[in-house]
Amino acid sequence: MLHNRLTEQYGLDVPFVSAGMGFVAFPELVAAVSNAGGLGLLGSGIAPPPAVRDMIRKTRSLTSRPFGVDYVVADTALGPATTAEHIEVCIQERVPVVVFFWNVPPADWIARLRESGIRIWIQAGSIDRAKKAVAIGADGLIIQGSEAGGHNHSQAGLFALLPAAVDAVSPVPVIAAGGIADGRGVAAALALGADGVCVGTRLIASQEAHAHEEYKRRVVVAGIDDIARTCIFGPEWPDQPMRVIRNRVVREWAGRDDRTPAAPNPSQSIGHTSIGGQEYPMPKFSAVLPVQGTTGDFEEMCLAAGESAGLVTEIKPAADIVRDMMTQAERIMSRGLRRR
Ligand SMILES: Cc1cc2nc3c(=O)[nH]c(=O)nc-3n(C[C@H](O)[C@H](O)[C@H](O)COP(=O)(O)O)c2cc1C
Repeated sequence: MLHNRLTEQYGLDVPFVSAGMGFVAFPELVAAVSNAGGLGLLGSGIAPPPAVRDMIRKTRSLTSRPFGVDYVVADTALGPATTAEHIEVCIQERVPVVVFFWNVPPADWIARLRESGIRIWIQAGSIDRAKKAVAIGADGLIIQGSEAGGHNHSQAGLFALLPAAVDAVSPVPVIAAGGIADGRGVAAALALGADGVCVGTRLIASQEAHAHEEYKRRVVVAGIDDIARTCIFGPEWPDQPMRVIRNRVVREWAGRDDRTPAAPNPSQSIGHTSIGGQEYPMPKFSAVLPVQGTTGDFEEMCLAAGESAGLVTEIKPAADIVRDMMTQAERIMSRGLRRR
């Protein structure tokens, strides 16, 4: 098995982290990844603090292994995605790792987590942001390349960004995110200096992901050319770049997709879902991802996925995905460049 300082420091069997995907990375997926020896990250998305607490407790009921919680630091149209109360939940529930994405968190959150012994990781898509994260005290960085699914700040592909980030923040551990969906990607990321990999898109197509079955199916059939970068999604959080699967609405707005358009008919809904137990009629251009129980028109919905969807050919249990990716990586690394 692949062991390194990440596995040693965090009590893992393999240097595999599952992405804290909002709406998708719920307790079943997180626990399956942690039980397989990786580090599962809960996607809190826009869930209020009591819902995050419930998710943490549910995860704990499914695994005794370490896991983390992912928080988005941003002001959305629905209010701040993460508040000091969210941070207190992680402290009270003694979550081992908290990950922040999008903006850098306020210093008092970092201080509170630190004094509680919680490790802090920050996901960054540029060298500047990576250095800033280290300066405010991050224990680890997830470096996100422009291939990555979901919200994506990065302008650079992982192949150049990752080694540059490793050099810039050494000796802080770096985890690679974006485009990694099989053992070849894992081996490449480790060769480029990463301590581990963070995998999102491949795990949408896992049995345990909370994503809707039709969304999973579309990840499986999508080729790399079916993935687009667009800002059209998000009355909930406007004008944010995302990688998604191209469907009718993405095609219709191609070329006019550098911001979220105003809905032609604001009362029109494209589907129905529930968020943290609350019914939610999805507005046109909604960035809310379809999950189990969502109904509506999938040609209008936001189907977040990265370029690595082109490598995903089947829905499998998350444990098999972790094991297969790590075994293939190990085989490649032990054979050198001769064969895959
Ligand atoms: C469906 C989906 C939802 C995501 N939601 C979040 C999120 O809520 N917070 C976050 O930090 N990253 C989120 N991400 C980005 C991941 O953290 C990660 O950067 C990305 O999945 C890695 O690239 P990959 O999708 O090619 O594996 C999301 C990614 C996907 C695919």
